[in-house]
Amino acid sequence: MCGIVGYVGPREALPLLMGGLRRLEYRGYDSAGVAVQQNGALEVMRAEGKLDNLAAIVSAHPTAGHTGIGHTRWATHGRPSEQNAHPHVDCGGVTAVIHNGIIENFEALKAPLVAKGHRFSSETDTEVAVHMLEDELTKGRSLEDAALAVLPRLEGAAALAFISSRDPGKIVAARISNAGGVLVGYGEGENFIASDAPALLEHTRKVSFLDHGEIAIVTKDAVSFRRISGEKLEKKVETITWDPIAAAKSGYKHFLLKEIHEQPRAISDTLLGRVERATGRVVFDDLVKLDDAYVRALPRITFVACGTASYAALVGKYIVERLARVPCDVEIASEYRYRQPVVSPGQLVVAVTQSGETADTLAAMEEAKRQGARLLSFVNVVGSQASREADDVIYLHAGPEISVASTKAYAAMLVDLYLFAIFLAQRRGTIDQERSRKLLAEAFHLPTLVDAVLQEEGKVQAIANRYHLARNFLFLGRGVNYPTALEGALKLKELSYIHAEGTAAAEMKHGTNALIDEDLPVVAIALKDSVYKKMRSNMEEVRARAGVLIAVANDDDDEITGKAEEIIRIPKTEELLEPVLAVVPLQLLAYHIADRRGNDVDQPRNLAKAVTVE
Ligand code: AGP
Repeated sequence: MCGIVGYVGPREALPLLMGGLRRLEYRGYDSAGVAVQQNGALEVMRAEGKLDNLAAIVSAHPTAGHTGIGHTRWATHGRPSEQNAHPHVDCGGVTAVIHNGIIENFEALKAPLVAKGHRFSSETDTEVAVHMLEDELTKGRSLEDAALAVLPRLEGAAALAFISSRDPGKIVAARISNAGGVLVGYGEGENFIASDAPALLEHTRKVSFLDHGEIAIVTKDAVSFRRISGEKLEKKVETITWDPIAAAKSGYKHFLLKEIHEQPRAISDTLLGRVERATGRVVFDDLVKLDDAYVRALPRITFVACGTASYAALVGKYIVERLARVPCDVEIASEYRYRQPVVSPGQLVVAVTQSGETADTLAAMEEAKRQGARLLSFVNVVGSQASREADDVIYLHAGPEISVASTKAYAAMLVDLYLFAIFLAQRRGTIDQERSRKLLAEAFHLPTLVDAVLQEEGKVQAIANRYHLARNFLFLGRGVNYPTALEGALKLKELSYIHAEGTAAAEMKHGTNALIDEDLPVVAIALKDSVYKKMRSNMEEVRARAGVLIAVANDDDDEITGKAEEIIRIPKTEELLEPVLAVVPLQLLAYHIADRRGNDVDQPRNLAKAVTVE
């Protein structure tokens, strides 16, 4: 949940570390800090709150030094404060650590250190690591040997990086669990480490990713790798091809608004190259295990995911069951991993994740693999852990998503899952050529249709202005748009801090109806599809109880006129693609309400982009 960066080379480390942290701030923004080696000593600067607070300190104390590490924090153990900000240093003030993750056994490790006289200055779990390292370094060990003595004793842990003036000009970075990535970036006479590629892309595109149980020993002229067991290791050097400029705001007030508007492009990119012209068959490159024979005999699919990704998976369930007739379950990854799930022989477990680094999703994948499932992941971030852990990967191609709230990656997930359902259906013979041609033609029309929905932004903003002071919201959907209601509610909660609930519309009469009164805006997704009539009845139930209705309806729906206080119009599409269009006004509503309330739209309180702790 935190971001880590490191630099060693001939340039001044401090500006490079601050630049890297800027690109990682979305991972956590409770506090930030840097440590730079300077003439045998260590200069540490830290600040509570956003990176700007640290930047102010750094510019008041420019510090020369060519080796350093930096950290942006999302608090787990210890409240957000300067004292709990990383880097943490040893008693001598010469060795520093930064950490992303949780050291679960820190209390047991801390007691003997305290008994030995180590002085702790934070409430964090992380600080034990640097005091343990201090003990090893005072035995005259190199930084990597000291780290190798300490790391196997840490449980949980994720990713760490150390520097020490006892062994200057060197960074040791480690990955101790599946969650929390670390990569090394190779420069000319300089090298970098980071938890995420955007932090490095300005300087190098040549990288190596650390896997679970590996360390990197990084100096300005060399990078070497070892396993935690000590043996030497060769790692592949990979080249990253993304465009870092795409991550800038391009004139939008917030990354979120930019990303909402990027959805037509994200959808086009997701569709690109996925349909064979000659045959009309859906194809995904480089599938290894998902061959035709396996797909034909597929007994069951279990989706594992968290948050927005889990709602995309729920849409996936509806589509796959409808088209490919494979029974599907959707499991919240954090529940799946701990409830001793039953994996049947040949079962496919599908992880859906934007970041590919969500700890609960990775752990669910691990559990499924342990029980013999085949793993497929739908992932946006290339090279992330979920992409490397799975037998097969389908990339989303949404481009870097910076805003904490997921929008364009959700659209890409929906489109990829739709293609996946057609892929399965074609191989299982559950749809004919004509139906599959029509379904695909409609998918290729989506970018234009999403563009048309985006033209409604002025109207949605006006609605946001009218309802931005509401204390609660209800979102209703049915069928394939039930997950859209869940996603609409989640977007509103995370961005505006207004309590919101998403419900299957027919479920209201089993309890939720009691909430309805003239102060409750109820957003109803009422599109002209197979459940339209049922949905209209549910809207009448809301009207009968004086609820304030905001309907998302089709352009050509005259029947609904006058049946809701507000109507947002969207174009008609194939029913299974409706969620791609219907979610857009809900994203815009959440965005404009949050902006109107003066919230930090791109970095909502208490949240982080990649949730790399459980
Ligand atoms: C999305 O708006 C949320 N911030 C969050 O629910 C997110 O979708 C979830 O944490 C899963 O992330 P992932 O897709 O990177 O695995």
